[in-house]
Amino acid sequence: MEKSRVLIVGGSGYIGRRLVKASLALGHPTYVLQRREIGLDIEKIQILLDFKQQGARLVEASFSDHRSLVDAVKLVDVVVCAMSGVHHRGHSILMQLKLIDAIKEAGNIKRFVPSEFGIDPARMADALSPGRNTFDEKMVVRKAIEDAGIPHTYVSANCFAGYFVGALCQLRPLIPTRDRVHLHGDGSVKAVFVDEDDVGTYTIKAVDDPRTLNKTLYIRPPENVMSQMELVKKWEKLIGKQLEKISISEEEFLASKKAADEIVQAGMDHFYHIFYEGCLTNFEIGEDGAEASKLYPEVVYTRVEDYLKRYL
Ligand SMILES: NC(=O)c1ccc[n+]([C@@H]2O[C@H](COP(=O)([O-])OP(=O)(O)OC[C@H]3O[C@@H](n4cnc5c(N)ncnc54)[C@H](OP(=O)(O)O)[C@@H]3O)[C@@H](O)[C@H]2O)c1
Repeated sequence: MEKSRVLIVGGSGYIGRRLVKASLALGHPTYVLQRREIGLDIEKIQILLDFKQQGARLVEASFSDHRSLVDAVKLVDVVVCAMSGVHHRGHSILMQLKLIDAIKEAGNIKRFVPSEFGIDPARMADALSPGRNTFDEKMVVRKAIEDAGIPHTYVSANCFAGYFVGALCQLRPLIPTRDRVHLHGDGSVKAVFVDEDDVGTYTIKAVDDPRTLNKTLYIRPPENVMSQMELVKKWEKLIGKQLEKISISEEEFLASKKAADEIVQAGMDHFYHIFYEGCLTNFEIGEDGAEASKLYPEVVYTRVEDYLKRYL
C-alpha cells in the first residue's frame, strides 16, 4: 500500500519533532508546516532546515491566512497536529479550530490527528480545576472534528518519559534525584510511561491503519505500566543506592496546590489524577479504542529501565 502524505503542524515542537522523525523513518512523504510568524526564531528555522535536509518538504502558511492553510492541507492525505497544550491556554484550541476549518474546506483529508498525546480527555469530565481546562479544550476540538465529519484518530500517549521518568514522577527536578524522593501516597498507583520517540512511531503507524479510524489509540506498552515505587526501585537498582522516601498524602498534595501559580496548579491537577486516582490505568480499553503495542508488536519500544540509563 502506498504510504499517505503526512503534514505535521507544530513540527518544531517537543513532540512534533518526534512525529516528523517517525514520519520520515516510516517512509511517508512528509510535509512540515512552516509558520510565517516564526520570524527571527533562528532555532526553529534551523530545526525546519534539518527536516528539509532529511527529506521533508516545508510548507509555508499562517494561521491568520485561511487560504494558506487550505492550500497546505490540499497537498497531503493526513494531518497530524502537535501544537502546544498547557503553555498557551486557549491559543491552541483557536488554532486547531482554524485548522479544522481548513481541513473541512479542503475536503481531501483521510485522517486527522489533533494535538492530544496525554490523558484521554473523554474520561476527565470530573477533573479538577484549573487542570481540567486542557481536557475541556481538547473536547471542544474533538466536537468540531466530529461535527465536521473528519476522519480522525485521537492519541492518548500517557506520561511522556522525559517529564515523568526523569523526574521519578515528582513535579521537579526533571532529572532523577539521588538522595530522596517524594512519593504520591505510598507510590503504588499504576501509571504508563512512554518514550517520546515511541509516541511518534506509534502515532504515524496509526495514520494509515483502518483499525484506528475514528478511534482512540492508547499507547500502553505493558512493560512500561508501573507505579511510581516500581519506577523508583528501578532507579535505585541502577545507582546501587536506596533513596529516602517521603510520602505525600492526598490531602497534603492538594493543600500544597494553593501556593502555586495557575500553570503549576494545572500540572498538579494532572499529577493528582494520574498518581492518586490512577486515571491512566483504571479502565479497560473498549471498542472505541485500540492499544498501540498490541496493534504494532513489531515496534521495539523503549523500556523504562533503558530510558533511565541515560541519566547515569
Ligand atoms: N503526555 C505528556 O506527558 C505530555 C507532556 C507534554 C505535552 N503533551 C501534549 O503534547 C502536545 C504538544 O505539546 P508540546 O509540549 O510538544 O508542545 P510545544 O513544544 O510547547 O509546542 C508545539 C508547537 O506548538 C506551536 N505553537 C506554540 N506556540 C504557538 C503560537 N503562539 N502560535 C502558533 N503555534 C504555536 C509551535 O509550532 P511551530 O513548530 O509551528 O512553531 C510549537 O513548536 C499537547 O497537546 C500537550 O498537551 C503531553
